[in-house]
Amino acid sequence: MQGCDGSVLLNSTNQDAEKDAIPNLSLRGFQVIDAAKAELEKQCPGVVSCADILALVTRDAVDMIGGPVWSVPMGRRDGVISLKKDALTNLPSPFASFEQLKSSFIKKGLNVKDLVVLSGAHTIGTSHCGSFASRISKPTDPSLAESYATKLRIKCKPGDNKSLVEMDPGSFRTFDNHYYINLRRKRGLFASDAALVTDAEANSFINSALASSTSNSTSWFFTEFGRSMEKMGNIDILTGNAGQVRHHCALVN
Ligand code: HEM
Repeated sequence: MQGCDGSVLLNSTNQDAEKDAIPNLSLRGFQVIDAAKAELEKQCPGVVSCADILALVTRDAVDMIGGPVWSVPMGRRDGVISLKKDALTNLPSPFASFEQLKSSFIKKGLNVKDLVVLSGAHTIGTSHCGSFASRISKPTDPSLAESYATKLRIKCKPGDNKSLVEMDPGSFRTFDNHYYINLRRKRGLFASDAALVTDAEANSFINSALASSTSNSTSWFFTEFGRSMEKMGNIDILTGNAGQVRHHCALVN
């Protein structure tokens, strides 16, 4: 959480690691990273960092589900510190207001365009009920469509924090611009999604994303998503002699 240094892959030791912070408990697929790392260590030991592997795997995973491809400059090195508390203080909350989201992004060198474009990643994946439960308990949060809240209440009974819902119902395994269609229909799942439509600047970017055809890889949304991912992947990276190249991504050398 100090930057893009692969620290999210480290296991807890005498102190709890980022991985074990509540917002990270749904992270999975660590075995994919470990397999890539093991192969690379066989071919060229100590050369490709876990931070670079994570950036490359993310790019390829988005490509495989129909999303854009972007370039991943390499040469990041791995961090040796991973603290649960850093994840808790740095990751924006799904209950955040627009101003809170904007300020957490600005702290990392990201702007409102990055915020809107990267939030478009909520076109894939699932969420636990707890991340939006307060919005569907009656009276329904006015920024959420009543018809959508009714559907969500069927899956998410009060107190249920185990069940998962698709974040972009119907195409949660496809990378497209539906997220923005959902936002316009008051079907953003989190308060932090709905918060984007409350700001004029953010709305202008939402409109550009809506005008984007996602069958075309040169569309505004796809191009900008790639750009913002590259920018995010360069936040506070370790280079030169800083950090290390881990031999195993879950363990400091
Ligand atoms: C703007 C601030 C953001 C907030 C508040 C936020 C919040 C969340 C929350 C609460 C979940 C559901 C976790 C769960 O209950 O299992 C989630 C899922 C997800 N988020 Fe975000 N997120 C943000 C930005 C991003 C960004 C920048 C990306 C990537 C570019 C992203 C990609 C995803 C993906 C792919 C999932 C689905 C994960 C899965 O299927 O388990 N999010 N997000």
